[in-house]
Amino acid sequence: MMDQPLRIALTKGRLEKDTVALFESLGYDCTAVHEKGRRLILPIPDGNLEVVLAKAADVITYVEHGVCDMGVVGKDTLMEMNGKLFEMVNLGFGKCKFALAAKKDYPFYDGFGVKTIATKYPNVTRSFFERKNMDVDIVKIEGSVELAPLLGLADGIVDIVETGTTLKENGLEVVEDVAQISARLIVNTVSLKMRQKEIEALVRKVEEQINDQKNHM
Ligand code: PRP
Repeated sequence: MMDQPLRIALTKGRLEKDTVALFESLGYDCTAVHEKGRRLILPIPDGNLEVVLAKAADVITYVEHGVCDMGVVGKDTLMEMNGKLFEMVNLGFGKCKFALAAKKDYPFYDGFGVKTIATKYPNVTRSFFERKNMDVDIVKIEGSVELAPLLGLADGIVDIVETGTTLKENGLEVVEDVAQISARLIVNTVSLKMRQKEIEALVRKVEEQINDQKNHM
């Protein structure tokens, strides 16, 4: 009898396309994912896989709780959530960075007053400024964080920068890089023990494919 499929949670949106392309390069038929409509659980029968589409933070929650065996999620969300799971492969795509940014020419490090930082990532922000021994007030914002310094709510932001266009078009600039980000393949700790052979085989295939791609660039 065939084992039940390995369930893998994918981050909807930006990382989804790259992940599906990776599976297709491994030879898996992802027709069901392409034709998903509004469905959220899709089979990849020839890989004995089942794809679950979720938001980044939920990918981590599902993998941590073991209802998904594996997941693909950005290092940004992993750094913010600090989940109990194995980070197995740096997939190389979904590249961007966390950066501290402020209004152009704003003397961010001048003066002794406590600075206010707006961010969607309070934990990443806290540990960045702790490493600098710098006391800051953190304000949690849900999206378009670039607004906060423009509206006078914050001295700076800690946010994701990909092309830099959003900063530029809003008169902001990077003050300092915080961390490099890319997509990671994560695995539930119990799944790795229970289904070690299958998971390790898939991880190996993924690693080989990524190395191949690197060598052909
Ligand atoms: C992200 C990030 C920046 C933008 C950076 O936002 O928060 O706003 O992308 O990309 P760029 O450097 O290529 O301009 P996202 O589109 O995820 O939406 P959000 O602002 O609602 O978080």
